[in-house]
Amino acid sequence: MFKENIFLHKTILITGGGTGLGKSMAQRFSELGANVIIVSRKSDILQKSAREIEAKTGFPVMPVEHDVRDYRNMKHVLQRGLDQFGQIDALVNNAAGNFISPTEQLTYKAFNTIVDIVLRGSYYMTLALGQYWIRERMKGAVLNIVTTYASTGSGFVVPSSVAKAGVLNLTRSLAAEWGKYNIRLNAIAPGPFPTKGAWQRLIPDPELEKAMINRIPLKRVGDHLELANLAAYLLSDYAGYITGEVVTIDGGEWLAGAGEFNFLEKLSAEDWQAFKKSRKR
Ligand code: HXC
Ligand code: NAP
Repeated sequence: MFKENIFLHKTILITGGGTGLGKSMAQRFSELGANVIIVSRKSDILQKSAREIEAKTGFPVMPVEHDVRDYRNMKHVLQRGLDQFGQIDALVNNAAGNFISPTEQLTYKAFNTIVDIVLRGSYYMTLALGQYWIRERMKGAVLNIVTTYASTGSGFVVPSSVAKAGVLNLTRSLAAEWGKYNIRLNAIAPGPFPTKGAWQRLIPDPELEKAMINRIPLKRVGDHLELANLAAYLLSDYAGYITGEVVTIDGGEWLAGAGEFNFLEKLSAEDWQAFKKSRKR
């Protein structure tokens, strides 16, 4: 799909890049020639993922331990990236926290924890990189990983839902404000992509997974490479005129849930015959 080495001499920083979708994106960017910086709280996992990706691709992957809620440590993260690679060209805000719970059972701290990671964390990273790009008169690209419920809302994941909605709004707001600096911001809204982090917390029961797959028009979950290729495209110069956009990648899941008459999918051939007979002309 892409020319080899489209990201050669480019450096991409990915939060939550040691696991799940973040790791898959890190590997894809690295295969395409990027220097990659992966950032999260757990140093041992970051180190292991970095070595694993480097061994596959031959391009450098730098692990940096950092909690995205800690704005004061951002200077140090940036400096480490700059010392190693000279410049940073793109940011992927992928780190997140989430849990399933009836909202009335959550403590206020639980809400704050998710909003701090997802919304404030994305804002802090974007602010630090944006100020650096503006100062250096460099172009920059930001990709925010949100969810389909950032637009629709969703019960039982309210802290995540409101935080992701904020991140989507941040994407659009700054696309308008920072276009003049040649900084692009876009978002991806994934439907279900199996990862240990999401599945353990949100879909622990195989029956729940089956029900979820059944309501997706394409009748399957997403493949990490499908998302990683979309991310590579949005960060690359091929998407140089796209900014403030969100691309949904969910096999049609959210539209199937939203369309007024989509529930008719459940009707059998016999039901349709009966329906035709009973309908008034
Ligand atoms: C209710 C919970 C909880 C749970 C923690 N809390 N887990 N409340 N249900 N399962 C509450 C705690 O009681 C505490 O409040 C507050 O949240 C902070 O908890 P800590 O454990 O101290 O927080 P912390 O160590 O910072 O851990 C962050 C975390 C954890 C978010 C709670 O789950 C985490 O590290 N997650 C990262 C990975 C992740 O979530 N990945 C999934 C992303 S998938 P009190 O008041 O008791 O002190 C996704 C979209 C998926 O986002 C869509 C699928 C289709
Ligand atoms: P994951 O593997 O659990 O990824 C979450 C990552 O965030 C972890 O690497 C974690 O690393 C990091 N992280 C959490 N809190 C952090 C903090 N305070 N500071 C820095 N890093 C932190 O889950 P995933 O499924 O790949 O999710 C990746 C992204 O996709 C998330 O934004 C999620 O909302 C989104 N998404 C996923 C799905 C899906 O079906 N999988 C669907 C829609 C959207 P540490 O624990 O080392 O900090």
